[in-house]
Amino acid sequence: MSSSYWTEILLILNLSFVCLLSSATQVDYDANAIIINGERRVIFSGAIHYPRSTSQMWPDLIRKAKDGGLDAIETYIFWNAHEPQRHQNEMQIFITKIVNMCKEANLFAPQGGPIILAQIENEYGNIMGPYKEAGNLNQPKWGHLKQLHEAIKLGEKILTSGNVTTKQFGNGVNLTTYSNTTSGERFCFLSNTNTSQDANVDLQQDGKYFVPAWSVSILHGCNKEVYNTAKVNTETTVMVKKPIELGTKLSWMWAQETIRDTLHGKGRFNATKLIEQKEATSDESDYLWYMTSIENMGKSSHNATLYVKSSGQVLHAYVNSKHIGSQFGYDFEFKQPAILRPGKNFLTLLSATVGLQNYGEFFDLGPEGLAGGPVELNVDGMASLNLSSNIWNYKVGLNGEAKRLYDPNSPHAHIWKTSKKLPIGKPMKWYKTSFKIPPGTSPVVVDLQGMGKGHAWVNGNSLGRYWPSQIADTNGCSDTCDYRGEYKPEKCVTNCGNPSQRWYHVPRSFLNDGTNTLILFEEMGGNPSHVSFQTVVAAAV
Ligand SMILES: *[C@@H]1O[C@H](CO)[C@@H](O)[C@H](O)[C@H]1NC(C)=O
Ligand SMILES: *[C@@H]1O[C@H](CO)[C@@H](O)[C@H](O)[C@H]1NC(C)=O
Ligand SMILES: *[C@@H]1O[C@H](CO)[C@@H](O)[C@H](O)[C@H]1NC(C)=O
Ligand SMILES: *[C@@H]1O[C@H](CO)[C@@H](O)[C@H](O)[C@H]1NC(C)=O
Ligand SMILES: *[C@@H]1O[C@H](CO)[C@@H](O)[C@H](O)[C@H]1NC(C)=O
Ligand SMILES: *[C@@H]1O[C@H](CO)[C@@H](O)[C@H](O)[C@H]1NC(C)=O
Ligand SMILES: *[C@@H]1O[C@H](CO)[C@@H](O)[C@H](O)[C@H]1NC(C)=O
Repeated sequence: MSSSYWTEILLILNLSFVCLLSSATQVDYDANAIIINGERRVIFSGAIHYPRSTSQMWPDLIRKAKDGGLDAIETYIFWNAHEPQRHQNEMQIFITKIVNMCKEANLFAPQGGPIILAQIENEYGNIMGPYKEAGNLNQPKWGHLKQLHEAIKLGEKILTSGNVTTKQFGNGVNLTTYSNTTSGERFCFLSNTNTSQDANVDLQQDGKYFVPAWSVSILHGCNKEVYNTAKVNTETTVMVKKPIELGTKLSWMWAQETIRDTLHGKGRFNATKLIEQKEATSDESDYLWYMTSIENMGKSSHNATLYVKSSGQVLHAYVNSKHIGSQFGYDFEFKQPAILRPGKNFLTLLSATVGLQNYGEFFDLGPEGLAGGPVELNVDGMASLNLSSNIWNYKVGLNGEAKRLYDPNSPHAHIWKTSKKLPIGKPMKWYKTSFKIPPGTSPVVVDLQGMGKGHAWVNGNSLGRYWPSQIADTNGCSDTCDYRGEYKPEKCVTNCGNPSQRWYHVPRSFLNDGTNTLILFEEMGGNPSHVSFQTVVAAAV
């Protein structure tokens, strides 16, 4: 295992590979290919990020990967999923679980086991659709890639052992020929890298080919086109969301996230410095309260400006119980006016993370939260007060988290209120509703349109954090999408001005046949009356 937070493993799905591998099988390689039991093989591998779905969904996901022509699954190991507490490593449990699951799904048959391979291919993009965690096929891409895998497998023998020659036709058109000179077998790739000019290529006795700009044709036997990357002809369906008729509107209860203690500076421990957030929370909660007080010896109020330097990711600032502003970013400076009254003044800063940095050099050491600050108060007409080494009181997490309000069986469930007028657009609220889902297998999603930022649970199972009030840039989309030319992130952008995510998958394994409970913690302010449940079903194009 590497010392970083992940490593990669490849699980070979192909029955014959694994059965052979576990007995007297020889795995070898040369400059051309991996050689399994003396045969050079082309192995297609795809990624499944297993913690993004429930373990109940894995067999189906693996089956779809295999149906799409993959021979192997590659996955990151998500360290945080296997070491919930420091030095309590549960990796072995996971390996056993996933291997057994593959066996059960009949993908390995009887002596199977995982083998470790190097990465042999670059990523093609996601074959699962939007809300891909739901396990839908992303058509037509899935079908197109399935055909690609099949086309390349036709040439497996020659591609992994033959000689290669390239002939240039000019204007960016190349013919690459793999051949076995003894048997005369051939396999060809006819590529056109010209970004605007389609090509008509005459290969004489091997035929004439139309190769659109920025595409590659695969010629089986060098004389029969079996695939072209620009000609998508997968007969397909698309996935659409269908509202679930619940009969009645969802009826909501709500509860206040009580913050009176923290607004008055009451924490669990203190320090004369601004502690880094992960250090303080041990990742037990996204939320950390930083609290201090300032004595105003004078007899009058002062206009002041609060300055906070945060290493991210979200800050909510309160002065004397008044919310003076919120801000988010990876690394930002917060500046808002505040009034300093005579006597004791309470400063309460709630810092939240929405995930931690997960790549790059020394990413685990990257600071979060107020981490050293500084926090300053600039009072009109006076020198600025540096509060960084004040006595800071700390509290990890929310009171509602401690009371397990997200759990329908919480002993504190009596605090839920029903009122004709539901609080809307107000921060720090909990919402609860019940719903029924018709039986079936089609994936269920909850549409959290109208909500701000927070966390959602179904029957006590976390659906994850939500943030539909985060709106994608309104600029950069266009009605046309030209795939030709090199990829750029700003190319073929869609959904400008829409929530970056609005639908959240509700795994069927979280649901029961009777009444289910959805609980939301809303941090910024939202309107649950727009929330609805939908199923994702296939529809003809
Ligand atoms: C076309 O073939 C030439 C000669 O082998 C090679 O240098 C060039 O990189 C090829 N172009 C592409 C796009 O493969
Ligand atoms: C693409 O085709 C055009 C027109 O035939 C030609 O002028 C241009 O040089 C070609 N580009 C490349 C990269 O070959
Ligand atoms: C590859 O080319 C060399 C030299 O032309 C030839 O000796 C050899 O047999 C070829 N190998 C195959 C597999 O075609
Ligand atoms: C090339 O074809 C001959 C004749 O079919 C075969 O014996 C030989 O193994 C092939 N070479 C390679 C490298 O696959
Ligand atoms: C800081 O913590 C110490 C030890 O628990 C406690 O005695 C003290 O009262 C605390 N100070 C403040 C200002 O909360
Ligand atoms: C604070 O500023 C406001 C507006 O600039 C002003 O009306 C008010 O008198 C100021 N208060 C104090 C205490 O200086
Ligand atoms: C504020 O205090 C902190 C901690 O004592 C110190 O590191 C920092 O340099 C000070 N900032 C300014 C602007 O004086």
